[in-house]
Amino acid sequence: MSRRVITFGTFDLFHIGHLNILQNAASLGDYLIVGISSDELNYHKKGFFPTVNFTDRARIIAALACVQQVFKEESLEQKAAYIQRYAADVLVMGDDWAGIFDIYSDLCEVRYFPRTPEISTTEIVNKIKER
Ligand code: CTP
Repeated sequence: MSRRVITFGTFDLFHIGHLNILQNAASLGDYLIVGISSDELNYHKKGFFPTVNFTDRARIIAALACVQQVFKEESLEQKAAYIQRYAADVLVMGDDWAGIFDIYSDLCEVRYFPRTPEISTTEIVNKIKER
């Protein structure tokens, strides 16, 4: 039986921290499913739209060898439903979320990986602005 892993994120301006967490997530199973925040969800969370639209972010993630399936995450409150819909055995998040997703441990195993230091979408945007 395959071991299905699920993770979530915006993955705007795809960078090495994103690749690292996806490869780490993939290493825990043999089928990686990635919930990618919709543009509207990102606006709701942060007050602005991602630089790269959902369609393009989803195409980039779906093209990675370590990713088997992507879907649009439309609501933060639906994590439990997504875990069940995609029959995930493991939920993976970066350790910026450490502990927060333990509420789903009755549905699946919950694992956190350390964030890659010194890179984030916000930092990339700030660096470009400073030029
Ligand atoms: N992530 C990571 N290491 C980084 C940046 C992100 O492991 N340096 C992980 C996050 O923990 C999350 C996933 O990548 O599980 C998607 O993160 P996302 O919020 O889309 O990326 P960030 O670069 O953190 O974006 P922002 O600066 O907008 O918060």
